[in-house]
Amino acid sequence: MAASIAKRALKFEVLAECSKSKARTSKISLVHATVDAPVFMPVGTQGTLKGMLPEQLKQLGCQIMLGNTYHLGNRPGPEILDEVGGLHKFMDWDRALLTDSGGFQMVSLLKLAEITEEGVEFEAPHDGSKLLLTPEKSIEIQNAIGADIIMQLDDVVHTLTTGHRVEEAMHRTIRWLDRCIAAHKKPELQNLFPIVQGGLNPELRKQCAQELIKRDVNGFAIGGLSGGEEKSAFWRMVSTSTDVLPKEKPRYLMGVGFALDLVVCVALGCDMFDCVFPTRTARFGCALVSTGQLQLKKTEFKSDFRPIDENCECSTCKKYTRAYLHTIAAHEAVAASLITVHNVCFMLNLMKSIRESILVDKFPEFVQNFMSVRFPTGE
Ligand code: GUN
Ligand code: ZN
Repeated sequence: MAASIAKRALKFEVLAECSKSKARTSKISLVHATVDAPVFMPVGTQGTLKGMLPEQLKQLGCQIMLGNTYHLGNRPGPEILDEVGGLHKFMDWDRALLTDSGGFQMVSLLKLAEITEEGVEFEAPHDGSKLLLTPEKSIEIQNAIGADIIMQLDDVVHTLTTGHRVEEAMHRTIRWLDRCIAAHKKPELQNLFPIVQGGLNPELRKQCAQELIKRDVNGFAIGGLSGGEEKSAFWRMVSTSTDVLPKEKPRYLMGVGFALDLVVCVALGCDMFDCVFPTRTARFGCALVSTGQLQLKKTEFKSDFRPIDENCECSTCKKYTRAYLHTIAAHEAVAASLITVHNVCFMLNLMKSIRESILVDKFPEFVQNFMSVRFPTGE
């Protein structure tokens, strides 16, 4: 059996369960914050969320955000992070942080990576030199960053991959988990989450989850999804995974952030989500609203003097009109920043409404209302 991980760094308390689905609302107590779940976690990359300051995130009530091991391991690097006492201090964020392990970003974004049993080998983007990210190295960097939740290095294959490679990646992910657990130096402060892999194969997903739950960890993630597969297959894999994972521990669905997927996957028993979508799409002039999205660069907004959303409490909606944002969207960095604030506010509010509905056992009504606003013609 793998090395034991202390329980002190996380407490999970379920406050209410939906009577008609697997949805639950909970409190996840971490070293730097108590997080109300289900939760959406905005994604920061280089120790900042693009276009927003930590104080603005706090104003919106954000309790946890993501950092990125690959980027931070490069710059400033683990030595500097150790020296300043971790990323919380470095970026002036005193609430909870979660870091991903780095390999996924290499494989999915750079496409320069080669995976061997040793780790993920990739070419450094700036000078082309070869770098090797091993499970041990990923944990060393994540220990230096100091996030409340850290992720194992996993072997991620594209969701549409089939055959032997999917099975190999699932087994390697389990072997890498044990190397991560052995390398983890701060279990009393940081929670190491394993990741369920197994592609779109339900048997592999089950087998992987069953193996992971033998380890003494404080929470689990579900990975390798939302990469262009059919929604039905994606949701089925989530459900298969949550059926095996224990109800007493938080479940984190990685890289999922479309409003519809959040609502469905909360119903399937997931507690935590992250995605670059709401912040990235903001930088392209796209604002999230209950009916879907507003492409603010379109001429239809030229003389639309309403805020993005009349019911939104964010500073952008209080001060600026669609017409103003339309005018600056294509030209000014501050437009991206204003829309980012709104989109993060939208996501946090969506999750808050979900939590409130579960608390009074009205989540099914919430879903019905959500769907009728988003798909008024029933399509
Ligand atoms: N982000 C989105 N999906 C994944 C995944 O499968 N693994 C990791 N490490 N990060 C992710
Ligand atoms: Zn707003």
